Amino acid sequence: DRPLNLGLAGIGTVGASVARILTEKQEHFSKMTGRPIEIKAVSARDRNRDRGVDLSGVDWFDDPVRLAQEADIDLFVELIGGADGPALESVKAALGRGIPVVTANKALLAHHGVSLARLAQRKNVTILFEAAVAGGIPIIKTMREALRGNTVSRVYGILNGTCNYMLTRMEREGVAFEDVLREAQALGYAEADPTFDIGGFDAAHKLAILTSLAFGTEIDLASIFIEGISEISLDDIKAAAELGYRIKLLAVAQRTDSGIEQRVHPTMIPAGSALAQVDGVTNAVAVDTDLLGSILIAGPGAGGNATASAVLSDIIDAANGVYVSTFTVVPQSLTAYKRARMRAH
Ligand code: NDP
Ligand code: HSE
Repeated sequence: DRPLNLGLAGIGTVGASVARILTEKQEHFSKMTGRPIEIKAVSARDRNRDRGVDLSGVDWFDDPVRLAQEADIDLFVELIGGADGPALESVKAALGRGIPVVTANKALLAHHGVSLARLAQRKNVTILFEAAVAGGIPIIKTMREALRGNTVSRVYGILNGTCNYMLTRMEREGVAFEDVLREAQALGYAEADPTFDIGGFDAAHKLAILTSLAFGTEIDLASIFIEGISEISLDDIKAAAELGYRIKLLAVAQRTDSGIEQRVHPTMIPAGSALAQVDGVTNAVAVDTDLLGSILIAGPGAGGNATASAVLSDIIDAANGVYVSTFTVVPQSLTAYKRARMRAH
């Protein structure tokens, strides 16, 4: 059988895990898709760095955009990161050639998801992004498939593994903010620029995507209230604990009378509640719906293998020709909240 030729842009924490697992579990993936999956081309900045995986015989591109434009590939996997620059340009190039895309890049989708979805739609290809929200937790498929018959009233949870790891270590071990941030970076949890994690922006990117799926509205990053954990001290955590609370960085989107409200901020939650028990790099997403009631889904939210788990599921779907329309791109572009605000002016 002709293999599925894959172009892998980015072989850092997530990309190297994906490449290694594809090599180690080759037979498993062939069974899942009915044909071998081969890494045909890769791109990264440093050709000489050891990635812990044999890439001999694989075409190397210094420039991911050239890879997307020129390589003989059936699927483009973007694991570079960043809302703009090479991530955006390479994804556009791949879609422009009619090549489906798998990405873990929530910043890219939060900023450009709608225009990329339009491009994908025009080219009749799909963008899959299970890894973009809550790492390995299958929340995108849950929202898109399992909850389809429901009306969602609220989606909320812990969406940033770095912050949750930091808050947990600060509370349990008394480790100072800067030290525990360095630990999260060393473990491969943090973004290339960790300000995105501790500033709440990464959680906001993920919330913007979840909101779009939950409420069928266009992605609306601009209207999210964002406050990160940079100002949280060991004293704050101790004071909350004395009152029977734990501090978590929560992301919340809910229907209100005036539209969809979206916010990310540190929150004191009762120590006995389910969300308060979510420790370390674990993420958790709760969804309140009309038919099913409330569900809570939790699991590893960052790290190489956990994230690769979600990327690989998308690769299998793409190999099997799964097509999903990416986001709401119908012209109901403004959320009710924004429309109400506009009417008020
Ligand atoms: P890394 O920083 O570890 O890896 C990024 C990769 O992209 C590296 O291989 C790097 O090359 C390459 N790269 C960066 N800039 C360029 C460029 N200009 N040209 C060519 N290659 C470039 O990031 P992660 O693996 O952690 O994250 C990748 C994506 O996955 C991001 O979108 C991130 O938000 C997302 N994600 C990450 C998770 C995690 O736990 N780490 C979890 C969920 C999503 P080189 O190696 O040579 O420096
Ligand atoms: N930096 C992100 C986090 C990676 O810590 O949650 C997973 O998206």
